[in-house]
Amino acid sequence: MSKLIVAGRQKLSGATEIQGAKNSALPILAASLLAKGENVLYNCPVLSDVEASCRVLRYLGCTVSRTAHTLVIKTDGVTRGEIPEELMRKTRSSILFLGAMLAAGGSVRLSLPGGCEIGRRPIDWHLKGLRELGALITERHGRLECQAPYGLTGARISLSFPSVGATENIMIAASKANGTTTIINAAREPEITDLADYLNKCGAKIDGAGEGIVVIEGVKELRACSHTVIPDRIAAATLMSCAAVTGSRICIKNIIGSHLGAVIPVFEEAGCQIECRDGELCFAAPKRLKAFKTVRTMPYPGFPTDAQAPLLAAACTAKGTAVFVENIFENRYRHVSELARMGANIKTEGRVCVVEGVPALYGARVEATDLRGAAALVAAGLCAESVTTIGGVQYLERGYESLEQTLCSLGANVKKI
Ligand code: EPZ
Repeated sequence: MSKLIVAGRQKLSGATEIQGAKNSALPILAASLLAKGENVLYNCPVLSDVEASCRVLRYLGCTVSRTAHTLVIKTDGVTRGEIPEELMRKTRSSILFLGAMLAAGGSVRLSLPGGCEIGRRPIDWHLKGLRELGALITERHGRLECQAPYGLTGARISLSFPSVGATENIMIAASKANGTTTIINAAREPEITDLADYLNKCGAKIDGAGEGIVVIEGVKELRACSHTVIPDRIAAATLMSCAAVTGSRICIKNIIGSHLGAVIPVFEEAGCQIECRDGELCFAAPKRLKAFKTVRTMPYPGFPTDAQAPLLAAACTAKGTAVFVENIFENRYRHVSELARMGANIKTEGRVCVVEGVPALYGARVEATDLRGAAALVAAGLCAESVTTIGGVQYLERGYESLEQTLCSLGANVKKI
């Protein structure tokens, strides 16, 4: 397994581009199954999670080819109605294929996606919504047998929580259902809007994406189209954390500032100067951050749970105490014990984490156990007094396109071995 060697006491400077959004590319890849013909997806990041979804598409009979950041997905050859366990377990977002495969007709067999490091990750709201669209789904020994013998029928679906994945699965399935579907309390993340934009380009009729109520009028046919994936707001928040923790000034290009509406003020309250104009975000951190105000993770447009770990790393050497409340996932503080090995003074109690800023962190051998926790360890390594060795780099590669190269282009000294 590869490791990252991060030299400490690094200053960053210069400008960099942001990758396309992982959490937008993944649902769009699943939805592309429904769009007949040749889909062209631009600004698609090179990530192991994206590659895993491409493997599912190929298994189902599509041809998928990549040139740099452009993916071409041809869906005319779709034949299979089942996804084998080893492919399902690769990523959580494999469950998003269920809505697409049901809408495509026929029966679907797949295993329950694995839980993951940050929590149990149930799919009960996905299945409830799809059943309300008329799907017959039986769960037996970790496998799902699903079919929609009479097609799917539009319905009024209320979500008890604005689940991103459940909203996406229902939206995809409803796009080809008979009649109209209304999703109440839908997730409002920008990735939902991007998925709706893609589907509407394919001929779907989806209104209200990004709002709490989404209305989908089912259509008979969806035709392939070309689409550019939005920038990854979490990758941007991660780079901001790296700059904040090293007292650096950097510029991040091709940003959509409104996607960082809840992130920017948190850094400003800690003493960072941020200017976001014409798709470029210029970020200047003080020598030492002031303590972050309490950070509560919430569904969009609240503070994103995926930015909690990198931000928590930046809080470790700030002046004063920061409180984090992780409201979305039940086990998303696994990076805390590793940060403590680097000298951080952190206590967790259930969903609450209290970080007492210390003057410095010290390089150590640490182990990443999930994607965003890995990013937190990289950020901490950049400001530590000496070298940090990070194991579990495969987690980082799930969601960050060569983060080490991006950081080196900004002046850091990070090597992958
Ligand atoms: C998506 O996960 C993202 N993944 C996550 O990003 C992100 O953290 C999350 O949304 C919240 O923004 C992708 O888009 C591929 P949810 P998802 O359904 O869809 C519970 C990253 O690091 N829940 O909004 O799984 C669930 O366990 C990843 O890039 C149910 O109980 O998120 C969680 O506690 C991590 N039943 C909460 O709801 C369900 O049927 C929010 O989950 C579905 C979810």
